[in-house]
Amino acid sequence: MIGHFEHPIVVRSLTKKFGLFVAVDSVSFVVEKGEIFGFLGPNGAGKSTTIRMLCGILEPTDGNAWVGGFDVRREPDEVKKCIGYMSQRFSLYEDLTVEQNLIFFGGIYGLESERLEVRKHWALDIAGLRGQEKVLTGELPSGWKQRLALGCTILHEPPILFLDEPTSGVDPISRRIFWDLIYELSNQGTTVFVTTHYMDEAEHCTRLGLMYGGKLIALGTPTELKQKLSGYTVYEVESTQPLEAMEVLQAEEWVAETSMFGTAFHVSVQNVPRAGLKIRKILEKNGFEIRKVEKTIPSLEDVFIHTVLHQEQNSFHTES
Ligand SMILES: Nc1ncnc2c1ncn2[C@@H]1O[C@H](COP(=O)(O)OP(=O)(O)OP(=O)(O)O)[C@@H](O)[C@H]1O
Ligand SMILES: [Mg+2]
Repeated sequence: MIGHFEHPIVVRSLTKKFGLFVAVDSVSFVVEKGEIFGFLGPNGAGKSTTIRMLCGILEPTDGNAWVGGFDVRREPDEVKKCIGYMSQRFSLYEDLTVEQNLIFFGGIYGLESERLEVRKHWALDIAGLRGQEKVLTGELPSGWKQRLALGCTILHEPPILFLDEPTSGVDPISRRIFWDLIYELSNQGTTVFVTTHYMDEAEHCTRLGLMYGGKLIALGTPTELKQKLSGYTVYEVESTQPLEAMEVLQAEEWVAETSMFGTAFHVSVQNVPRAGLKIRKILEKNGFEIRKVEKTIPSLEDVFIHTVLHQEQNSFHTES
């Protein structure tokens, strides 16, 4: 049995039902101190619901979890003291200045004036907002707002941080700066639990959990997850009408999976000799113009699609 006090987050068969609908289905995992644990999954997969249970805001239907050594069912108030939580729709007060927001959230966390002053300066520094104290929050670019939101979330120096899609809708450069901040916090020993839809961000996590239909369908480091595809070869293809081209290829029994990848698409095959040539021939025969067919390294997106499709096939087999 894993000691609940030795790990910042321990989750055991955690389940949440809304009526008959199972939003989180018997999920179990452990997060180590200082990890950046990424929680991935499509819309409605159950990520936010899991986080809300771990933050002591939503009562589990079944199973349990311990955060900072505290039982989320029995000790939700203790849990709240040792975490920072930036919810998916976390919003600052737009009509307050940067400084007023920090003071407001510091007050919520019960920081005394001296400590608040120190922490306020620290948050301004870490968020790169020094000199912007008097700016109205509503006038900040979205990337800066997110950094301020993070600053407000960690004013009380929580050892465990839950960030629910902190960078959605933020431009790539600001996302990069935000992630530098996450690294810094993790280096200082903060445990970070973060959800994201961005696969490049997922690559930066120490470990990942993939959620699908309320279930945790894969768990491991980005490298470990990619090794799941080790028996497969992935080709990157650029052609005219990529969606139609993917459909044509997907209909071939020797093609395992296809998925969009930027303006190109990926085709995975298992033990198919000269698959690149076969892809070319089929597409040319169907009138597509090909710009590129090249072997490529599987991306996390490939792994994700592979894992989801296999999950669906397995549940289809068990149901039928
Ligand atoms: N209070 C609620 N009552 C009923 N159903 C709910 C409630 N909260 C969430 N759900 C449902 O539970 C499922 C999981 O929702 P959740 O918000 O956890 O997904 P998510 O993985 O965070 O998705 P997204 O990526 O869109 O944020 C969804 O189908 C959602 O509609
Ligand atoms: Mg969510």
